[in-house]
Amino acid sequence: MADEKNALIIGASRGLGLGLVQRLQEDGWNITATVRNPLQPGALKDVPDVHIEQLEMNDTAQLDALQQRLKGQVFDLVFVNAGVMGPLPQDLERVQNSDISDLFMTNAVAPIRVARRFVGQVRKDSGVLAFMSSILGSVTIPDGGEICLYKASKAALNSMINSFVVEQQRPDLCVLAMHPGWVKTAMGGENAEIDVPTSTRGMLEQIKAQSGNGGLRFINYKGEPLIW
Ligand SMILES: NC(=O)c1ccc[n+]([C@@H]2O[C@H](COP(=O)([O-])OP(=O)(O)OC[C@H]3O[C@@H](n4cnc5c(N)ncnc54)[C@H](OP(=O)(O)O)[C@@H]3O)[C@@H](O)[C@H]2O)c1
Repeated sequence: MADEKNALIIGASRGLGLGLVQRLQEDGWNITATVRNPLQPGALKDVPDVHIEQLEMNDTAQLDALQQRLKGQVFDLVFVNAGVMGPLPQDLERVQNSDISDLFMTNAVAPIRVARRFVGQVRKDSGVLAFMSSILGSVTIPDGGEICLYKASKAALNSMINSFVVEQQRPDLCVLAMHPGWVKTAMGGENAEIDVPTSTRGMLEQIKAQSGNGGLRFINYKGEPLIW
């Protein structure tokens, strides 16, 4: 059908990525979703008609292979959702250097490597490229000192998104750095403010509202603009 829409969701085994897939499926989208271990797709296997692909974001060979497999497809939405909290507690005197390296690689560098490989397949004029950022990535927010490395990794992601958008020279491209809210997932914890359906429905409404509106914006799941 002419108005069928295609989405590529990176990191969909659980949490917000899985929620995005569930909402898009409810809305009738064609969905390609990545997981690190396709033999254990978790609840993703219960979502009908999802095309599951393997991707460990930090493995460039896997990134290149996925790019080859998805060659020629056009996406109305590419959402780079995957991310990690990093080592806990985030005591700078005790954390391992390799854990800090993994955190920044996963949260700030790998998402841009993904975006570089798929930006050419985002539908011209109406497609949206979204990254899962966090309000903690705003350097002006005083909260979150106890997870200062995670906070810095999301600030780094925001900076990398900015450089990526400048590099692309594509004014038609809608790029969103999104804050999902504080959400009840393995990462957000059970004391978080909102559930996955509320967050993911909200983000998809904002994506719909922003489609066709070229440029880079940092917004939350309610569409409120955030300070970089
Ligand atoms: N929950 C919140 O309150 C909140 C707030 C702000 C921002 N965020 C951001 O939202 C995103 C999703 O978080 P969540 O709360 O849904 O966390 P989650 O439940 O811990 O899920 C994280 C997802 O990322 C995947 N992932 C992690 N490292 C990866 C890698 N190297 N390559 C590929 N996939 C990888 C995980 O796959 P596996 O199952 O294989 O581990 C999992 O699917 C993250 O970027 C997070 O920083 C969350």
